[in-house]
Amino acid sequence: MRRWILAVAMCTLAFPMAAQAAGGKDLFLAQKCNKCHEIKSEGVAPIEAKEGIKDLSGVGKKHDAEWIKKWLMKEVELEGKKHKFGAWKGTPEELTTIAGWLHGLTK
Ligand code: HEC
Repeated sequence: MRRWILAVAMCTLAFPMAAQAAGGKDLFLAQKCNKCHEIKSEGVAPIEAKEGIKDLSGVGKKHDAEWIKKWLMKEVELEGKKHKFGAWKGTPEELTTIAGWLHGLTK
């Protein structure tokens, strides 16, 4: 019984640490995706207002997470064109995180 309580206490302590890992939005900003994109539904503004800023609000309705990963690795095309940005520079884990986050944007 005491061991069980200890295990619960340890999980509770460990959880906030896990939550510190960068989330999709942090990665989006860290990789400067908002040089060319905004996400109005998430309150993500472009670094600077310029022509051709693409809003990614609701992008999760268009593509699944696997496609987004491939898109960010420049492995798939959209209307005959690859992403106008270098291939993903973060870790594979971060790629999974950001792709999952973008896929979750359905508004
Ligand atoms: C240099 C400019 C630029 C940067 C920086 C950039 N993108 Fe893009 N991105 C584009 C363009 C251009 C398109 C094509 C948009 C279109 O035709 O609808 C696009 C399309 C996309 C799409 C598909 C949108 C759709 O409507 O199907 C996703 C998802 C995306 N970008 C995510 C990202 C992420 C994540 C980052 C950061 C890692 C990023 N982009 C950085 C220019 C950029």
